Amino acid sequence: KTLSASGFHSPERGTINVLDDVLIEIDAQGAIIAVHRHGDPNYRAIRDARDASGELVIFPAGCYILPGFVDLHVHAPQYPQLGDALDVALEVWLQKYTFPLEARYQDAAFARRIYGLLVDDLLASGTTTALYFATIHQEATRALVDICLEKGQRALIGKVAMDNADECPEYYRDLSTEEALDGTRALIDYVRGHPDNGEGRVLPVVTPRFIPSCTDATLEGLGAVAKECGCHVQTHCSESDWAHGYVLARHGMTDTDSLDRFGLLGRKTVLAHANFLTAKDMETVRVREAAVAHCPLSNAYFANAVFPLRAALEKRLHVGLGTDISGGPSASMLENARGAILASRMLQSGVDPNLPAAARSTFGPAQIDFRDAFHIATAGGGIALDLPIGQFTPGYQFDAVLIDADAEKGTVRLFEDRDKGERILQKIIYTASRPNIAATWVGGRKV
Ligand code: GUN
Ligand code: FE
Repeated sequence: KTLSASGFHSPERGTINVLDDVLIEIDAQGAIIAVHRHGDPNYRAIRDARDASGELVIFPAGCYILPGFVDLHVHAPQYPQLGDALDVALEVWLQKYTFPLEARYQDAAFARRIYGLLVDDLLASGTTTALYFATIHQEATRALVDICLEKGQRALIGKVAMDNADECPEYYRDLSTEEALDGTRALIDYVRGHPDNGEGRVLPVVTPRFIPSCTDATLEGLGAVAKECGCHVQTHCSESDWAHGYVLARHGMTDTDSLDRFGLLGRKTVLAHANFLTAKDMETVRVREAAVAHCPLSNAYFANAVFPLRAALEKRLHVGLGTDISGGPSASMLENARGAILASRMLQSGVDPNLPAAARSTFGPAQIDFRDAFHIATAGGGIALDLPIGQFTPGYQFDAVLIDADAEKGTVRLFEDRDKGERILQKIIYTASRPNIAATWVGGRKV
């Protein structure tokens, strides 16, 4: 299949590659074979040949392809709570709202219903890959795997491990280290042995919820499982004052150092939030080539701080963007991209109008723009996961979203005499909404 389209991608932070009327050749496995630019000498010949053989798909003017969004941090079971219970502290929110909700996934029929709605919603929002926390349950988590395979979403899915009786209620925890580890291994086997998962579109993830909810024996065991299975790892790291302080008190070191000693910090690790990383922690994350899932909306409610995104990008940490459903109240990666820009602006300017301007800004350069926001929502997430996704580069998977800037009920307004090049993407990032999302592809297949 060959697509004739215009669009944008951002393989490297800070720059947008404008794809102006290009041909994208895609193989039967959904990988991009070549991207021919309009001015290339063979452009015309290839286009005519594909047109003659009936393989050419032409998108109309006003439509732009972007790499599909990579949501680097989603709690699938928390979807019914989206937009609810945002007024309490993290530790209260977990015990009072979130654990009771997650416990309901003991009921696999409930899980199937909610997970089906969520995956449909995310695909319709342009999220082609999601890194999911599920719950502690086997059957419900398997249902999420099945649903992602059925609906064609690329997904990385973890059975949540949480066995610390001091921090997790009796009604919702792994009752022993064995249960946490065996359950993790069982899900890895289920995903890898799934008859519909030959292409590896769904991957298993070792998922200690966060240090407070796990015993040391479980953290150690999970580090060994991750190594033995070569899996991705995801967890929450230094999210709030309370969470960061808890680990300092229990382990006498930061989350980053503690995860590292348990073998949970490697190239395939994604740390959600990471707001309170010290300079030394950042260096450790960089050296280990681990990644951060930046969750700007969630951080506004639960973190008591703003993640220093620009500093992390300038230190060349791997960073992607996450919705953190339902810590963040929006499933839309576009809204989270805007949130990332807004938060960075406030971190740079300071927030207290009673202070003189010079004293208001205490942090230093923190501002990012739509280019960085777009990068972390797409290519940054792909790099974080070490997967060939998030950019239109030969060898990468064709995971894409089609933005129809002229959609009747859409919210993008382009004016031909002023909006050109990357400024079109700027308007898409700032103003596009669900009606502008015309189509989504994962691995070359429309979903
Ligand atoms: N820390 C431990 N569990 C969670 C969770 O479900 N959401 C968020 N935002 N932080 C957590
Ligand atoms: Fe989270």
